Amino acid sequence: VNHLLGIKYLNKKDISLIFETADHFKEVINRSIKKVPTLRDITIANIFFENSTRTKLSFELAEKRLSADVVNFSAGQSSVKKGETLIDTVNNILSMKVDMVVMRHPNPGAGIFLSQHVKASIVNAGDGAHEHPTQALLDSFSIREKLGDVGGKNVVIVGDILHSRVALSNIFALKLQGANVKVCGPKTLIPKHIESLGVEVETNLRKALEWCDVANMLRVQNERMDISYFPSTREYTQQFGVNKEMLNSLDKQIVIMHPGPINRGVEITSDVADSDQSIILHQVENGVAVRMAVLYLLASKIK
Ligand code: CP
Repeated sequence: VNHLLGIKYLNKKDISLIFETADHFKEVINRSIKKVPTLRDITIANIFFENSTRTKLSFELAEKRLSADVVNFSAGQSSVKKGETLIDTVNNILSMKVDMVVMRHPNPGAGIFLSQHVKASIVNAGDGAHEHPTQALLDSFSIREKLGDVGGKNVVIVGDILHSRVALSNIFALKLQGANVKVCGPKTLIPKHIESLGVEVETNLRKALEWCDVANMLRVQNERMDISYFPSTREYTQQFGVNKEMLNSLDKQIVIMHPGPINRGVEITSDVADSDQSIILHQVENGVAVRMAVLYLLASKIK
């Protein structure tokens, strides 16, 4: 059985294959062909133990565009609330002849755990503060689309690196493709020893922006903190929020990304998020083609 549990388990060739496959699906979508019969015999369960807008809808659309049969499960309306375990929940879903499981879960490593205990292909749609592999793939795909190549580009990831699965998966994906990566944020929100992943730490946002070709802005994930890691939102915005004035003062036009959801006026102002420099909605658009590619490549191994 094959899984997508994290970028950590991929190599450069895997990423190239996913992107070439996603190119094909994007072209199909752009030709207004809404549905292809590729996964007609496959049933996929999307099981979400954490809230989601983009990832959940994007996987469901990708599955439907590939003609898979789709069932959706939200933990909040399920028998998980009556104490049913993760393995029991998934084995019950699988006994209804489900082939693949797309799962979001608050616990780091939940997808890895599940892959060791159930007989289905598992796709990690975000596991706590660990990995969010399809987000990193769609982010790199979007950089490649905008700048031609990821290799050799200077990318800074700004914000709450400590609690971000998007940051970790992006670091793995960008490094595999030969990008130069810096992280920027308050010291309290940057993991110790992050340099061991081959990234540099920059705590001055202006210097980070002057250096980069691409800035990926992250939100502060207050829901993953039991104490406050930063004095106040206002101070965070003053030091690590990006605004139009700051971007206009640079001697080049950098690309602005954000995985969403955005906290407008905190890590990014509206005039930046909605500007020509922002590719935020292109990231969301590309998410469907990239997820179609991932599902197609995994399903071709179980068919
Ligand atoms: N980027 C992302 O994972 O967004 P959602 O939480 O809305 O899925």
